[in-house]
Amino acid sequence: MASVVSSNEHSGSSDNHCNPFPAATKDHHQPLPRHPEDPAAALANSRHEFGEHGGVNMSIEASATFTVMEPETMRRMFTGELGPDRDFFFYSRHFNPTVLNLGRLMASLEGTEAAYCTASGMSAVSSVLLQLCSAGGHVVASRTLYGGTHTLLTHFLPRTCNITTSFVDIRDHEALCRMAHDKGITAVVDNTFAPMFVSPARLGADIVVHSMSKFISGAADLIAVKKRLSRVDGIETESWPGTICHDVLIGYLAPSGAVCGPESFVNSLMDTRDGSLMLLGPTMNPKVAFELAGRLPHLGLRMKEHCNRALVYATRMKKLGLKVIYPGLEDHPDHATLKSMAIKEYGYGGLLCVDMETEERANRLMKLLQNCSQFGLVAVSLGYYDTLMSCSGSSTSSELSKEEKEQSGISPGLIRMSIGFNGTLEQKWSQFEMALSRMQDSTKV
Ligand SMILES: Cc1ncc(COP(=O)(O)O)c(C=O)c1O
Repeated sequence: MASVVSSNEHSGSSDNHCNPFPAATKDHHQPLPRHPEDPAAALANSRHEFGEHGGVNMSIEASATFTVMEPETMRRMFTGELGPDRDFFFYSRHFNPTVLNLGRLMASLEGTEAAYCTASGMSAVSSVLLQLCSAGGHVVASRTLYGGTHTLLTHFLPRTCNITTSFVDIRDHEALCRMAHDKGITAVVDNTFAPMFVSPARLGADIVVHSMSKFISGAADLIAVKKRLSRVDGIETESWPGTICHDVLIGYLAPSGAVCGPESFVNSLMDTRDGSLMLLGPTMNPKVAFELAGRLPHLGLRMKEHCNRALVYATRMKKLGLKVIYPGLEDHPDHATLKSMAIKEYGYGGLLCVDMETEERANRLMKLLQNCSQFGLVAVSLGYYDTLMSCSGSSTSSELSKEEKEQSGISPGLIRMSIGFNGTLEQKWSQFEMALSRMQDSTKV
């Protein structure tokens, strides 16, 4: 979970909009609940959308444009008098019924009044920042943001809009949100790493963004699927990591994201004259929305197993003498804070880091873990059912300078592992031990 606090110059209003998100209004002055509602219960309570012919799944509305019986209706839709709340749609870059249904599920998940889904996590982040900040605006952000967001703030936004950023250490989410609200500033949290077990909006954040191609998708296919092909008698066939293989990228090549927040803000993103989602256009494809809606109901079950295995492996790795960084371990500096925020039944997240000190040692271990013992795959991203491993300093955070990496705790040999839930826990652990002992043997020789 990483926070961005941005100057609230331009938070939007729903005055001339219909409201497609019928939900209770949130009052920031109410004390925050100590035990926030379980997002699984909130999801189960949300409206079940059936398909056109009574199908248990919603239908896909794949049309780009929508027709009206009376031409006059068109003008009324464009002025905001008639809208999605009354089933009036005019163009899918604006609200689309299937994407709106997924948005309502995301709002239930995160406990916000509203949500809408975007073409990628980065488009969720950039649309929110551009909607909140005008040219010359200022952002205060955590040092530990995702590398792409960090680069957006350090390079792209200063160049294109003169929006500047101060990076700070953000440790206490609730105190930060209180401080922001006292000053009339909007608090935005990227919750890609922590769905279900942390609900930033239920703990005071105004806006929550997601890259949905991670834990929420769970299958890594909505961005790209890495398949292994082996050549057997001159014909390429699919296989699990084997001897003669190479990687190809296939799949829908469709990343996905979401913006969850107050209805006035989500509606402002779609303002026909002033909305960053409407005018820049990175909304979600309804076919992707349909796929993701089918994965949300089992997100809670998947998160419990990601978190359980990450805690077991982190504990065992530490006992083996490895330098492990995992907020579920009691000696982690943020353990107590996370414990006070997280929903106990889920755990402390599915990501852990092992510091191998040098990039060469990190690469050697990852190679053994993938190619010899099949513990996981060397790939960026997270939330896949198999374990994914990457050296953050040379991949997802490679854009950061040496000093910025040091300040964010990214050492050259840091391996980030997104712990999967395939196979059995003991089977996968023995694969980890096998690779580690091979590495230790080779060092002795
Ligand atoms: C925390 C976080 N936020 C945002 C993004 C960007 O998401 P996307 O790749 O869907 O644009 C990522 C991608 O890895 C991420 O890890």
